[in-house]
Amino acid sequence: MSYEKIIADNREWIDDTFAKLDKKLSVTAVKSRDKIPYTTKNGVHDSRTEGKDILWWTNGFWGGLMWLMYAGTGKECYKETAQNAEKIMDGAFRYMDSLHHDVGFMWHIMSGAAYKLTGDKASRNRDLLAAMTLMSRYNVEGDYIRSWNGKENGGWTIIDCMMNIPQLYWATDEIGDTRFKKIAMRYADMAMRDHVRADGSVNHIVVHDPDVPDTVLETKGGQGYGVGSCWSRGAAWALYGFILSYIHTKEERYLDTAKKVAHYFVSNVMNTGWLPLIDFRAPDEPVYYDSTAGAIAACGLIEIAKNCPEFEKNIYLSAAIKMLKAMEKEWCDWSETEDSILQMGSERYGGGMHMPIIYGDYFFTEAVLKLKGCDFLPW
Ligand code: GLY
Repeated sequence: MSYEKIIADNREWIDDTFAKLDKKLSVTAVKSRDKIPYTTKNGVHDSRTEGKDILWWTNGFWGGLMWLMYAGTGKECYKETAQNAEKIMDGAFRYMDSLHHDVGFMWHIMSGAAYKLTGDKASRNRDLLAAMTLMSRYNVEGDYIRSWNGKENGGWTIIDCMMNIPQLYWATDEIGDTRFKKIAMRYADMAMRDHVRADGSVNHIVVHDPDVPDTVLETKGGQGYGVGSCWSRGAAWALYGFILSYIHTKEERYLDTAKKVAHYFVSNVMNTGWLPLIDFRAPDEPVYYDSTAGAIAACGLIEIAKNCPEFEKNIYLSAAIKMLKAMEKEWCDWSETEDSILQMGSERYGGGMHMPIIYGDYFFTEAVLKLKGCDFLPW
């Protein structure tokens, strides 16, 4: 079935869901204008802005979500909140030595989006500054971008960072310095080799020798169940991250890797009503879900569908829609008494479980916007 036919068959659900997003978010855009939300407490958005909370890795998603809705509707209420979020986030640049690998999540989808949508040069500067700090994390001897700060983490890479490297591709396109793209591709090649397993499952954390290239000392379960398991959000970061690397480089190996992870991901959600478990290799009980993994994976599946041959599109697009529909039915809260939308996100296996998390709302919205036909790609 063609991409267009699948979209046409689901048009009513897509339009209805986008209308519900707009109805709810146009209210919270004003209500939470001076916040940088992470989750909700008793239905009300919290705010991560005090002191070093401003450095929290998810702090770009609120501004990014507002830019998505601005791209989809052109409404000023979203633009005003997005621009306010960006100003609040300038507080993070006071702590340059505490910035980390997640500066792409923090600025590329917020300031980068602002620049793409409005041409604002101050936003461009913020995104470039963040890209430069990300590139400065490259370990020339170990040949990877280090993740968290701290002496004990010097050799660690995490699959999540596949979503930060689009900021480096962008920096090369923007200022013509090819070093950013080259380092991004080195990271993608390392992740393909050391994080993605032969069957399409994914290691969250890989520990390298910081002084010797291409070495793996150890893998860690990270936010998943344990060593050798497959944390579903990590798989989703890989799925979406590799198709984004393909979009930016046109290297077929990244498309193939995105597909490989997609096949593993989809085969694991088919048997759980298209609702993703938090880890695909965890014991059957207790049953823990993670909606954020589903929303991120749906975005990646839609991009694979857009970038693969005609006769394959159905596999990826239909899986994305089935997952989004299942999550909308079971886990979306459209009420006015709850500021968040997508429930049942999980921070990590066994901790911070089954709660709304801002990037769940972000990726769910991004996925629906893609289905609606909006071609704005913030990454
Ligand atoms: N990047 C951290 C997480 O996905 O929870």
